[in-house]
Amino acid sequence: MPDHAGGAHEDADEQIRADGPDRLLADESEQRGHPQGAEDEADDPAEETDHGAADDGGPDVELIAALNRSARPEEMLRPFTRKGGGGRLAVAQVVLCVPSGITKVEREAVQEATLAAGARAVYLVEEPMAAAIGAGLPVAEPRGSMIVDIGGGTTEVAVISLGGIVSSQSIKVGGYEMDEAVAKHVQGRYGLLIGEETAEQAKLDAGSAWQLEEELECLVGGRDLQSGMLRRLELGSEELRSALDAPVQRIVTAVKDTLEGTPPELAADISDRGIVLAGGGALLRGIDLRIRSETGLDVARAESPLTCVVLGAGESLNELETLKRARPGRGRKLRGRRFQRR
Ligand SMILES: Nc1ncnc2c1ncn2[C@@H]1O[C@H](COP(=O)(O)OP(=O)(O)OP(=O)(O)O)[C@@H](O)[C@H]1O
Ligand SMILES: [Mg+2]
Repeated sequence: MPDHAGGAHEDADEQIRADGPDRLLADESEQRGHPQGAEDEADDPAEETDHGAADDGGPDVELIAALNRSARPEEMLRPFTRKGGGGRLAVAQVVLCVPSGITKVEREAVQEATLAAGARAVYLVEEPMAAAIGAGLPVAEPRGSMIVDIGGGTTEVAVISLGGIVSSQSIKVGGYEMDEAVAKHVQGRYGLLIGEETAEQAKLDAGSAWQLEEELECLVGGRDLQSGMLRRLELGSEELRSALDAPVQRIVTAVKDTLEGTPPELAADISDRGIVLAGGGALLRGIDLRIRSETGLDVARAESPLTCVVLGAGESLNELETLKRARPGRGRKLRGRRFQRR
């Protein structure tokens, strides 16, 4: 059992920021023990003896990692290798969440890198599926559920039914683009250059996507483009809302487009049950009301938007069997592909 596994789940959001999702789920999976679907698919006996995770008699430890496009899998897995960067993985099975829009080549690159880092098996789970599971949506049932995962770099919108993604959109718009929009606004209107972190902080402090009952203000500091001196400025939530409008509107459009591409019977389910928001961007004030207003549908935030992808990725291993039952022969393909170590 690796010593990195620790931390209470109540602190899940905090941990993701502090330590990355890996630690959280390593801990989570240890408590759950061995995943069912994983062993069923271990069709290479040699692989089990060579790399079996239960060598020490303990339960398998799964590593769950949300994959950022900017980070290479081997870097993300480094804390879990036995000898710093060079050793074999201290975990046997790895779940990686990938954007639903990635290509086959990208998938294979991720898989290869993870196996090269020493994993015995790799599961790739599409982020919206993981988010939906983590948000508690009934993904295996025949009815349709819609999840909108607003992350930093991407927003993933998906309609899920019977364990599969029925229609989806992945756009490269998320929290980072919102930060950029704030920085551009401050530069264009006030001639003040602010950093990404300052822009993000302004978004967190006073950003919104819908009129607030009580409008807010925040202070930003940056460099005056003319004088070169440091200057501080007060920003109101109304002007921040207007600065954020373009990225927010692109997210809303992606939701509407996905709804339009959804088969009528599933669209009817979504009308009844509404849309669930996940990802850090779901915490933007009023984004739920904005989407509700533009789609006419009920919109709710997942209970913990920042952790639902990693929690769902962990859950997805346990649910492989359910999905196989729901769609015989298809659960593996739809939910997470397993790759053999060569
Ligand atoms: N309270 C908040 N209000 C608005 N935005 C927020 C809030 N909290 C976090 N965010 C934003 O959420 C984003 C991060 O969300 P999340 O952790 O879901 O992204 P990610 O999964 O790392 O990104 P991706 O899914 O694109 O790979 C950041 O842009 C952050 O600024
Ligand atoms: Mg994400």
